[in-house]
Amino acid sequence: MAKSPIQDYLQALHARFSGLTSGKVADYIPELSLADPGWFGICIATQDGHVYEVGDCSQPFTIQSVSKPLTYGRALEQHGEAAVLEKIGVEPSGDAFNAISLHPQSGTPLNPLINAGAIAACSLVPGDSMEDKTATILETFSRYAGRQLDIDHKVYRSESETGHRNRAIGWMLRNFSVIENDPTATLETYFQQCSIRVTCRDLAIMGATLANGGVNTLTGQRAVPEKFVANVLSVMATCGMYDASGDWLYRTGLPAKSGVGGGIMAVQPGRLGIAVFSPRLDQQGNSVRGLAVCHALTADLGLHMFDASQRAIPAIRRATMRRSVKSNQRRTQQANDYLLNVGKKLRVFHLHGALTFASIESVVRVLPGAARPLWLNVICFLDSAQKSWLWSISCWPPERMPKVKPSLPPARPRTNCLS
Ligand code: DON
Repeated sequence: MAKSPIQDYLQALHARFSGLTSGKVADYIPELSLADPGWFGICIATQDGHVYEVGDCSQPFTIQSVSKPLTYGRALEQHGEAAVLEKIGVEPSGDAFNAISLHPQSGTPLNPLINAGAIAACSLVPGDSMEDKTATILETFSRYAGRQLDIDHKVYRSESETGHRNRAIGWMLRNFSVIENDPTATLETYFQQCSIRVTCRDLAIMGATLANGGVNTLTGQRAVPEKFVANVLSVMATCGMYDASGDWLYRTGLPAKSGVGGGIMAVQPGRLGIAVFSPRLDQQGNSVRGLAVCHALTADLGLHMFDASQRAIPAIRRATMRRSVKSNQRRTQQANDYLLNVGKKLRVFHLHGALTFASIESVVRVLPGAARPLWLNVICFLDSAQKSWLWSISCWPPERMPKVKPSLPPARPRTNCLS
């Protein structure tokens, strides 16, 4: 099979940053210190399920904080936005991931991606026991990854035995009634969540699942309701890299989340999931090679979300008058006369691309006055599935159009046309 230029590019990127050896493997969770600092993988998964990978992309490691946005999505699914916002804020803390960053008045954690917010989100996951909650989280994460994931129990025990700071955070949240009962089960669930084993490939596919509106691009399974994807990506964009989130968004313009296991998962909404795995971390707990690779990827491939070159493409691919469209359907003279008559008034717009406001505006602008309100109403109230259905039918050949029969007299039954 011909080598893909993208694979070559990733190979070159991997070679370029293999020489970057600054940073330290995490050791505050003793089991994590056993990681090989040389491990290094880069993986890109497209929204439609194509995966490019180079380096140690099948080397298992623990997901750690990359788990937090996924659990946040599960808490939103369970309780809805308003209820979760009452318990967990969406403001960047500007502090380290394990800081006791609670709102001075309410005692609520500032966002769901610092440990305090992640522990609170864990308490909102359905399940009365640690086992139930962990099973829910494993099931959700496996949908994102498109395969059954498991827990690295050695890392779990190591974290549970040394998780004193997180326990302090757990009891602070109990003190402010953010967690409404003994936090022990929630804390153990959180330690299990962080100890779920993934690979760099899994993280890229999880990112592509978010890029694809919550549906796994390989299995077609939904991992999170579409309406919460923007919430998850928003906190990833503003808080995902802790007190380096500002610098990250400035350079990459991509929602992302890092973990002390050495993983970084980044998302280009609607397009890509990107993952880098390298255990050497900087002061903020972000993978050093992961940061460098993502900065280069964004610059080289123009991935920055705020890059104006990603303008909306005009939605009208072709506009025709009904009478100029040739049809093979055989009709009675009366029917033909009727169509000829209305044909002058019928315009067919063939649309393409995502029906976003910006692209549809270019359609509404050219619609004859009378039709505008109808079109606008139709567009604004459709969800994306309906919009893409509307888009698809506007390109269907006539024989595939849904059978909406105009009230014409019945056609003469087909006989042998030669008679
Ligand atoms: O709670 C902890 O400290 C770890 N389980 C997760 C921290 C983490 O991954 C921070 N990320 N950069």
